Amino acid sequence: MAAQIASVTGAPHARVLGVGAYRPERIVPNADVIEAIDSSDEWIQQRSGIKSRRWAGPEESVQMMSVAASRLAIERSGLDAADIDCVVVATVSHLLQTPAVATAIAHELGTHAAAFDISAACSGFCHGISLASDFVRAGSARHVLVIGVERMTDILDLSDRGTAFIFGDGAGAAVVGPSDTPGIGPVVWGSDGEQFDLIRQREDWRDVVGTADSPGSGVMPHLVMEGNPVFRWASFAMAKIGTQALDKAGITLDDLDVFVPHQANMRIIDAMARSMKLPAHVRIARDVAEQGNTSAASVPLALERMMTEGDARSGDTALLIAFGAGLSYAAQVITVP
Ligand code: UT7
Repeated sequence: MAAQIASVTGAPHARVLGVGAYRPERIVPNADVIEAIDSSDEWIQQRSGIKSRRWAGPEESVQMMSVAASRLAIERSGLDAADIDCVVVATVSHLLQTPAVATAIAHELGTHAAAFDISAACSGFCHGISLASDFVRAGSARHVLVIGVERMTDILDLSDRGTAFIFGDGAGAAVVGPSDTPGIGPVVWGSDGEQFDLIRQREDWRDVVGTADSPGSGVMPHLVMEGNPVFRWASFAMAKIGTQALDKAGITLDDLDVFVPHQANMRIIDAMARSMKLPAHVRIARDVAEQGNTSAASVPLALERMMTEGDARSGDTALLIAFGAGLSYAAQVITVP
């Protein structure tokens, strides 16, 4: 007979304990990006709702921004770094393929926590919140730090009309820990790999380097996006996912206080809100206007802004939903800490 392996159980429930953010110093208005892409402030605002974005300076690395956002999230959770026993970093713009930037972040924060990166592009933070909730409830960790961070400017071609005006840099972080009552609802997540090519790194590293017979491009493989199909997919398919997340959490539209969708495009945010028939009392995150699309950082940055500006209050019920390259998506209801 096989030996009996001991099992652990965790907390009855999990919740978000605190949220932090880091926004790079440099504000980049539309006026500063239009020349390279033959565009206009009017076009960008009409098509995306973006007025400005933040671009990181040389000192504002993925690690630096993550540590700054995390320190705030840990402090706001009433914890010390030593209390964190797992660090999950969602990013697509950490340029070193290995090791995970999460281990360097954990070290700088002062913890020997388990630490690893996940790659789910713009939906990575919501994937991370789901993992964290499961870890806490299963007993794998007590306090999980979930970070969404991007230095998109490192992987952008600033002369590409389809991406240069959209993306921005920044970091958001949340601590997930034990709770006596449910504070994170069941996740609704999935992928549509048939649309794998719609948002992706233009070529893989082998193509960049090349071979003796066929020289590589030698050029940084930037991000390319077919914006319009993604736009149509997000505007229609994602509203259904949001509604499913509410249903799974047992929440009606009347119970919902705050809607924090991925900050990709103001028109997508409005289309989702219309399609989900969100009542007028639901406060909607519109961080994209000042922050651009920060990929994995967008949901925590938008939530943090709403919390600091009083639009999301402690105890509020919020729906988070994020989507992007893959295509991949994840949504869940949380209680605002
Ligand atoms: O975060 C990951 C998920 N990503 C997203 O959710 C992004 C989703 N996509 C979008 O946000 C939108 O598709 C964009 C904002 C990127 C573009 O808006 P659109 O309404 O889909 O525009 P479009 O690509 O259909 O282009 C419309 C027109 C075209 O001209 P014609 O063919 O109508 O004459 C383009 O050539 O706008 C032109 N255009 C531009 N004009 C000025 C395309 N890019 C630009 C530009 N400036 N940068």
